[in-house]
Amino acid sequence: MPTTPTPPTPGHAGLFVAFEGGDGAGKSTQARLLRDTLEAAGHEVVLTREPGGTELGAAIRQVLLHGDHVAPRAEALLFAADRAHHVATVVRPALERGAVVLTDRYLDSSVAYQGQARALSHEDIRNISLWATEGLLPDLTVLLDVSAAQGRARREGVHDRLEREDDAFHEAVRQGFVLLAEREPERYLVLDAAGDPAVLHRAVCRELASRRPDLGALVPAGGEGPEAGQRVAGEAR
Ligand code: TYD
Repeated sequence: MPTTPTPPTPGHAGLFVAFEGGDGAGKSTQARLLRDTLEAAGHEVVLTREPGGTELGAAIRQVLLHGDHVAPRAEALLFAADRAHHVATVVRPALERGAVVLTDRYLDSSVAYQGQARALSHEDIRNISLWATEGLLPDLTVLLDVSAAQGRARREGVHDRLEREDDAFHEAVRQGFVLLAEREPERYLVLDAAGDPAVLHRAVCRELASRRPDLGALVPAGGEGPEAGQRVAGEAR
């Protein structure tokens, strides 16, 4: 299948970082640690999430995750609708005023869950979200790679309709994320989610500092310890 080239991310003054990974990967913890570090360095940070980063999104989240069966294409469109409203009303305004926006999930979650795991066309799913967001892509995506078994163990129970899916579904999700990171490695930092959260956080800070020296010194939350095992995407399976 032909792949669509990545459209250029429209210019903005801020920095847009997405945290992605399977359920139980620890994205929320990493997003919060990075927010704390960036705020301590004096930056305006907007920490948000999908689905549900807006009032409308919270309603969409409720029907998406706590309803009964949702047809796969309806599911894909609802996630895209949440994203369209989120970007238009929260993410883009913050980026335009120069803030750092950290989002717990973004477009790649749709490609991994609805594209790979629900077996819809990756290209269609990606294009729907690119239309919804007017082409906004993260400056950096941190992929916390987690196996289905690890994710299940770390989730401590089932909380929503997608978490209820079996291990084969969650392995497909994992593969979907890894494929994305392999395709555009320059936009990703792939980390082994099994690592110590403070160590992973230091790796995220190092990556950001090397990409954006203008952010100044970032002193990571958490003490000294072993260095994070940064993994190239191809080694993630
Ligand atoms: P999330 O909020 O990360 O879960 P949690 O309840 O642990 O905070 O995400 C909710 C679920 O939605 C998760 O199983 C992944 C799924 N999802 C998709 O299937 N497609 C998407 O585009 C997004 C953003 C999430």
